[in-house]
Amino acid sequence: MSEALNQFKQPLLIQLETEMKRYIEQHVQEKSLRESMIYSLEAGGKRIRPLLLFVTMASFKKEVDFGAVQVASALEMIHTYSLIHDDLPAMDDDDLRRGKPTNHKVYGEALAILAGDGLLTMAFQLLSQSQLANDKKLLLIQLLAETAGSSGMVAGQVADILGEGQSLSVEELIAIHQRKTGELIRFAVLAGGILADQSQQTIADLAQLSTHLGLAFQIRDDILDVISDQSVLGKATQKDELAEKNTYPGLLGLAGAKAALASEMNQSRAIIRTLEKEQLDVTLFEELLELFSLEEKGVKK
Ligand code: IPE
Ligand code: IPE
Ligand code: MG
Ligand code: MG
Ligand code: MG
Repeated sequence: MSEALNQFKQPLLIQLETEMKRYIEQHVQEKSLRESMIYSLEAGGKRIRPLLLFVTMASFKKEVDFGAVQVASALEMIHTYSLIHDDLPAMDDDDLRRGKPTNHKVYGEALAILAGDGLLTMAFQLLSQSQLANDKKLLLIQLLAETAGSSGMVAGQVADILGEGQSLSVEELIAIHQRKTGELIRFAVLAGGILADQSQQTIADLAQLSTHLGLAFQIRDDILDVISDQSVLGKATQKDELAEKNTYPGLLGLAGAKAALASEMNQSRAIIRTLEKEQLDVTLFEELLELFSLEEKGVKK
């Protein structure tokens, strides 16, 4: 990671960690629930969605304030809940996440389900109590519900699970990836634009950008499942084929998947250059895109 992005990121991610923990400690009295929620949040993770939100906002030369940290905290809570549930025996049945035993391995399945429920609901509690102006707050609550819920990530997870063992077309696979992973990435980028007071046209361009980034991120995740390993990723690998998941390498082969990733990234770069005309400072953004490359390999935390 470049020095500029590193310097930008560090203080903001400290604020993010602090806010998520503070909020949970203040509002969750039930000790086991509090511990299991904090366990998964503090297990690490790349924080790519908060970072996307912060970088988008800052690239429009808008100061990343505490309100933005609160929105990013809500987003990371939702993402973390999605991982806790994704790892459950009834779903992907994984034992390792973010370099640590999965939530249900430590606290049991019931607590893991409930910690996920807690994080999901708490995200909206935090957002509704955030310091944002009421119009933006309402817009972001709606957008988070839409992208995280039954028309977004949850629907994608359902399609992913129901698709196991079935041979889907590339179009059907894209529809799964765009919802299960793309939608929360869409929230991150659009929230950055909304918080930076951008026009409808710019928001529409950002939506296009986020579609390519979301797809790229899951293609990369699928490729890493094949070529990387547990000690690097902090989660088990070589699992998708075993579970008969529909993935890019499974459908297109490794070379085809890598070409698809490169294509999504090229299209992302092209949109970012268009946005430069709308006053976007592309420097940090282009550096952030490095995190979507295979070389960066999902650094273990
Ligand atoms: C993993 O997301 C699940 C996908 C949507 C691919 P991340 O790769 O962002 O996981 P963390 O947050 O860094 O653990
Ligand atoms: C997960 O996709 C997407 C989520 C919404 C959590 P995966 O099942 O491929 O994510 P990993 O590989 O377990 O992180
Ligand atoms: Mg899954
Ligand atoms: Mg999984
Ligand atoms: Mg995966």
